[in-house]
Amino acid sequence: MKFDTPATDNPIDRLKVVGKPTNRIDGPLKTSGTAPYAYERHDVVPNQAYGYVVGSAIAKGRIASMDLGAAKAAPGVLAVVTAADAGKLGKGNFNTAHLLGGPDIEHYHQAIAVVVAESFEQARAAAALVRVQYDRAKGNFDLAKSMDGAVKPPPAFGTEADTRFGDFDAAFASAPVKLDARYTTPDHSHAMMEPHASIASWDGDRLTLWTSNQMIAWSVGDMAKTLGIPKENVRLVSPYIGGGFGGKLFIRSDALLAALGAKAAGRPVKIALPRPLMTNNTTHRPATIQRIRLGATTDGKLTAIGHESWSGDLKGGSPETAVAQTRLLYAAPNRMTAMRLATLDLPEGNAMRAPGEAPGLMALEIAIDEMAEKLGLDPVAFRVLNDTQVDPEKPERRFSQRRLNECLELGAEKFGWKSRKAEPGATRDGRWLVGMGVAAAFRNNLNEKSAARVRLDRNGTVTVETDMTDIGTGSYTIIAQTAAEMLGVPLERVEVRLGDSTFPVSAGSGGQWGANSSTAGVYAACAKLRMEVAEKLGLDPAAAVFENGKVRAGGKGVALAKAAADGDLVAEDMMEYGDLAQKYQQSTFGAHFCEVGVDAMTGEIRVRRMLAVCAAGRILNPKAARSQVIGAMTMGAGAALMEELAVDKRFGFFVNHDLAGYEVPVHADIPHQEVIFLDEVDPTTSPMKAKGVGELGICGVAAAVANAVYHATGVRVRNYPVTLDKLIDKLPDLA
Ligand code: MOS
Repeated sequence: MKFDTPATDNPIDRLKVVGKPTNRIDGPLKTSGTAPYAYERHDVVPNQAYGYVVGSAIAKGRIASMDLGAAKAAPGVLAVVTAADAGKLGKGNFNTAHLLGGPDIEHYHQAIAVVVAESFEQARAAAALVRVQYDRAKGNFDLAKSMDGAVKPPPAFGTEADTRFGDFDAAFASAPVKLDARYTTPDHSHAMMEPHASIASWDGDRLTLWTSNQMIAWSVGDMAKTLGIPKENVRLVSPYIGGGFGGKLFIRSDALLAALGAKAAGRPVKIALPRPLMTNNTTHRPATIQRIRLGATTDGKLTAIGHESWSGDLKGGSPETAVAQTRLLYAAPNRMTAMRLATLDLPEGNAMRAPGEAPGLMALEIAIDEMAEKLGLDPVAFRVLNDTQVDPEKPERRFSQRRLNECLELGAEKFGWKSRKAEPGATRDGRWLVGMGVAAAFRNNLNEKSAARVRLDRNGTVTVETDMTDIGTGSYTIIAQTAAEMLGVPLERVEVRLGDSTFPVSAGSGGQWGANSSTAGVYAACAKLRMEVAEKLGLDPAAAVFENGKVRAGGKGVALAKAAADGDLVAEDMMEYGDLAQKYQQSTFGAHFCEVGVDAMTGEIRVRRMLAVCAAGRILNPKAARSQVIGAMTMGAGAALMEELAVDKRFGFFVNHDLAGYEVPVHADIPHQEVIFLDEVDPTTSPMKAKGVGELGICGVAAAVANAVYHATGVRVRNYPVTLDKLIDKLPDLA
């Protein structure tokens, strides 16, 4: 089905099931520990052996020699695979060849061998016996020192490195009020609960992988290319995923080495990356250095916006697109953005929840706070004043929906913003300095083609199959809600099967496109099934109403199940969007509010309450969406206050490579969080009229927290995370 925009009235609009706060249908499995995650699938294939990955001990250089003798002779060992005997590995779309390094080493903990043994303990013990001599080369690990050598990268995912509009230099130079400030964001780790894990099993030249992966079809393609086998020979199964955040968009070393290990051992092999290997072996959100220049009239209208960002990646990598939102968020007739990329020999930088916007807004939304103060304007009012309803760089292009100002104003009202004193450091609660901060949230909405298959059986059960994944987001539930709405059956009559490459190819989970795109694919398949049902029952398809398990048309009502009385009815279809992305600027908007207390004595920062107001089209399941946003706000609080991969600039690795050293927030860190969704539908996105929220929820959060810390203390921290050591010397005297 080709999506004709704008969407007309359709069965989803009835909102009998869609749009209702609905418990996750996978909830009982998750909470009872019975949802099978990749590493736990002991029953899918017999005789599973264990693989243990050996990571490089250097960041850059060559393996001079490897002695595998002791490892191979160790008890229980079945095989050891290195680049020397893995055969030629192809390069997938996401440079999968480097998932097994050697003799050249590209980054610390790059996999250089996998040891396969009868038991996990034997594999691990034998892996420790692999002796490697390295020729270490000098690497480049320091982003700040690499800024001068950073280059303009080629466009990535259609995003140009540089944009210019109007005359930024002249406008900035002549602006009566201006800001020129530098901000830094550190490297971040996805730190998802479930490690990267895979079980690989060969049947001749056909490979099955039970794994933990966000994008099934991408990963099938990449695995096939890497191994040099047809993609029809690769089956990937990933029904439950314990968090991904972008770290599981691609196959990683666990999947490739399980496949290579299984081939070598002649047995199925399972591998989970141990936590201390994950940080440096897999991907991370790259650090940024950002320069923001703002110019405004004395009455607060922005006249010039400049945003430059520097980030690093391995050779051939891409930049963190931290200027992306700045091209679209605020009006100003003169603008420039630029991204520069340094070659760093740290582990691979790649997508992490709201790649680009998340770190970009961490900087931009502090800058906006600083500018409001310079202008003597309230930070909410300043943002509202500089709203735009068109793409500021392409004024003929309107936002399909843009209610940022309502998010800000409603949020201010609900959060009690008017009680906030303009002056920083002026509010006390005993020993606590109290402050409130705000930030705008912005993230683009993407629609990706997505297919599904729907089956109706004689009992009236509807089964949906699509290779869509549920990374903890609620895909199972919103897909079931969609099918139930379309076919007029209760939720309990719908069974959803996900994450298997034998199912129709979906949008997958990434870039917050999953909810709208995957349900739109299910809509398309259900629309087709409705035609078949009507035809089978001899009803006029155009007039048929599907409701309460019945199909009615022309005064006639028949049980839906009857259509499948002499055999299942099956329909498969894909929703496609053609040039929709060229027609509209589709984005999601929000406002984050945060109140913090800062201990005047110690500088300890406590988040007291947070509120998000989001405008993201139709909310398919307010309960699941709220959970998404709360999770994202929590992650944003982590980015504000805790998260930082510490770079060892001598040897080139992330030092705090476990959950003891890489701190993330827990529930107790944030006592009160609330989420409000504006009541809206966006008929330009799909028949679902929905958008994504999973990434919107993190966008701007860290700046709202940082702005609250500034408001509490009067100390402006521009280098994340905002930790007490950056405050303590500057806190106001207690007297
Ligand atoms: Mo997302 S960072 O595209 O999973």
